[in-house]
Amino acid sequence: IDELLAEGVDGKRVFVRADLNVPLADGRITDDGRIRAVLPTVKALADAGAKVIVASHLGRPKGAPDPAFSLLPAAERLGELLGTPVAFAEDTVGPAAQATVDGLRPGQVAVIENLRFNPGETSKDDGARGEFADRLAALADVYVGDGFGAVHRQHASVYDLPARLPHYAGYLIATEVGVLQKLTDDVKRPYAVVLGGAKVSDKLAVIDQLLGKADRLLIGGGMAYTFLKAKGYEVGISLLQEDQLPAVTEYIERAEKQGVELLLPVDVLVAPAFPDLKEKAPTHPDTVAADAIPADRLGLDIGPETCNLYASKLADAATVFWNGPMGVFEHPDYAEGTKAVAQALVDTPGFTVVGGGDSAAAVRTLGFDESAFGHISTGGGASLEYLEGKTLPGLAALED
Ligand code: 3PG
Repeated sequence: IDELLAEGVDGKRVFVRADLNVPLADGRITDDGRIRAVLPTVKALADAGAKVIVASHLGRPKGAPDPAFSLLPAAERLGELLGTPVAFAEDTVGPAAQATVDGLRPGQVAVIENLRFNPGETSKDDGARGEFADRLAALADVYVGDGFGAVHRQHASVYDLPARLPHYAGYLIATEVGVLQKLTDDVKRPYAVVLGGAKVSDKLAVIDQLLGKADRLLIGGGMAYTFLKAKGYEVGISLLQEDQLPAVTEYIERAEKQGVELLLPVDVLVAPAFPDLKEKAPTHPDTVAADAIPADRLGLDIGPETCNLYASKLADAATVFWNGPMGVFEHPDYAEGTKAVAQALVDTPGFTVVGGGDSAAAVRTLGFDESAFGHISTGGGASLEYLEGKTLPGLAALED
């Protein structure tokens, strides 16, 4: 983007593909981290006199307008953060978008409606995506890719559109890639990785890669129960992905062979049912050893002994990557494990990276100071796929 700014953007229509896919509750944004992350790019372009068109997806609407997924709240928040009103177009490539863009003066910013309201955005058909990309291209003179959280998607605005316009990477993408490169190219050891979240199936590819890279793998969250089951423990009614047991068993064996320390919870918090996340009434969980989960209970967080164990394994790590909460942190009864890991990252002198999605939101909503972490990525799936060593369509499209 510095190259673009040096060439000059005064009066040019610059399309910024951002990732404003923020969590919403009752139409209100609960974590605006992704909006704040794109501010440097939007500000720099506006200050240089560009007519800035910000576009993004939000959630997973079904290829048609759906008020529940409108980008309007994100556009309003962007305006608040910029300290200047932002125009909002109620469609993506229709008359509203065209009129909004035509009405922009140099230095002004507009947001167009959710890109996924158009079926061409996510279509698997190259022709359909291309057609939508053509219409988006007609709105702008230049493309800036800055939606790091979506670079793993081969979608029209991420992959096809940059091929149709002069294209540049924004500041956020440059920062994110710079940090993740440190984890892949020349990582400082010991390198510890904490993985949590609900489903082990989402993490198989990254575990596969990390078994050759990391020195320690610390497992928590819902996915831990498939590991515990693979070790021969009974997990009661905890989340279990039975079909993943062969893969997980193989990883446990491989970790042992390769000298990777694979750590599983030694104790967990259990309850008879999943807690109510709206009312958040006390649920009085029990703490049990990981090999003694009662048949009628489900595990909802790592226990205090595991918190201490994991903290000690992070204390002397030179590099830490963390993706995925340790428990149902949205309920206060089950937030301690995630808090303990976040605190361990704050306390370690090593370089720490929080990998997107739920863990980034958890860090902020649990009240941690963002500046205490080395880097908080805006990409959940994107940062994992980067670490898996995959070619990410949204980065490849900007590289040529
Ligand atoms: C994310 O939240 O990880 C990104 O915004 C991508 O969203 P998606 O998984 O719906 O494509």
